[in-house]
Amino acid sequence: MTNEISQPGASPMPAVRYDLANGPVVLGIESTCDETAAAVVRGRTLLSNVVASSMDEHARYGGVIPEIASRAHAEAFVPVVSKALSDAGMDIGDVDAIAVSAGPGLAGCLAVGVSGAKALAWAAGKPIYGINHVIGHVCVTQLQFGELPDNTLALIVSGGHTSLLRVTDIATHVEVVGSTLDDAAGECFDKVARLLGFPYPGGPHIDRHAQHGDPNALKVPMGLTQGRAGAEHPFDFSFSGVKTAVARWVESRRADGLDVPVDDVCASLANSVATVLSRKAMSACRKFDATTLIVGGGFSANSQLRAALAEAGKEAGVDVRIPEIKLCTDNGAMVAMLGSNLVEAGVRPSHPDFAIDSAMPLDRISMA
Ligand code: KG4
Ligand code: ZN
Repeated sequence: MTNEISQPGASPMPAVRYDLANGPVVLGIESTCDETAAAVVRGRTLLSNVVASSMDEHARYGGVIPEIASRAHAEAFVPVVSKALSDAGMDIGDVDAIAVSAGPGLAGCLAVGVSGAKALAWAAGKPIYGINHVIGHVCVTQLQFGELPDNTLALIVSGGHTSLLRVTDIATHVEVVGSTLDDAAGECFDKVARLLGFPYPGGPHIDRHAQHGDPNALKVPMGLTQGRAGAEHPFDFSFSGVKTAVARWVESRRADGLDVPVDDVCASLANSVATVLSRKAMSACRKFDATTLIVGGGFSANSQLRAALAEAGKEAGVDVRIPEIKLCTDNGAMVAMLGSNLVEAGVRPSHPDFAIDSAMPLDRISMA
């Protein structure tokens, strides 16, 4: 690699050519964690969407094992990409560009998807974009709700991220206005779920049990909402204290030989997390004059959060856009959609030897 070709923005690839009337045809490939996924979009229309998950292989270890996930990506890559193309009635020659998640995520998993995508791009002579997976979670809502209004805010809630983003232009300018100082919301749920004996991923189990419990049964702290810490971090989050408080309560019940009312524990935890997320998101909308809030990431499947945001949005006059469940969890459509936005905005493709970035910052939309 020479300095000359690794300079940001220095791409030997020409700007992408596509049919202006129908929009670019983009193949999106995703392999950040335990889903190997591919999808094809034309402009803002989804033509195919294929997901293979290795989740069952991780369940007995209580979390994703990177080595197992990477191997599963290597096995699933060709079948998943082939099916996405054939479901769209296309072969690789029909595609205008390839987009692949370059980060953030598990390094070994990213390496499999990115290497496969690069090989495909090189063999077929197609431009390639290494994109930010998290920004893909924002973009995917265009499939259901249409274009993003100018002043949009996004709440990203996944196993690894809890962040508030100001989206000025999805292809060129995204700014982080808040993020978690410790655990992500999904991580907090998964850790409490483990303590309660639920298999990985525990989030959906907490969600289900919470629907039958009393949300006020336990006094659960609401991190960074009050006092000096709350004032200093109006749009940041902290869920580690919530997790510890719930864990201590459960452990002390067990030590006293008392039953643990699982539904109530789940409902109290879910209520605290959903309330903090929705309050902070709405106060950020007020501060930044945003009338649209996009919600994305695996945790946006959570029913307590969906209900809290719907109610808060109605009260505050904010249009809350949460995708249907199958587009909340990791998928190829989100990657293809961001690729389509980048092509249309005239953003240059990534350099063919771009690196993966397992800690890709959320204000970097694609690799140079
Ligand atoms: O975005 P995602 O699919 O993967 C990451 O990039 O992290 O998010 C996975 C996270 C896990 O922590 C999982 O427990 C959580 O999303 N999750 C849920 C629900 N569905 C998935 N958490 C709470 N309630 C749910 N219904
Ligand atoms: Zn994700």
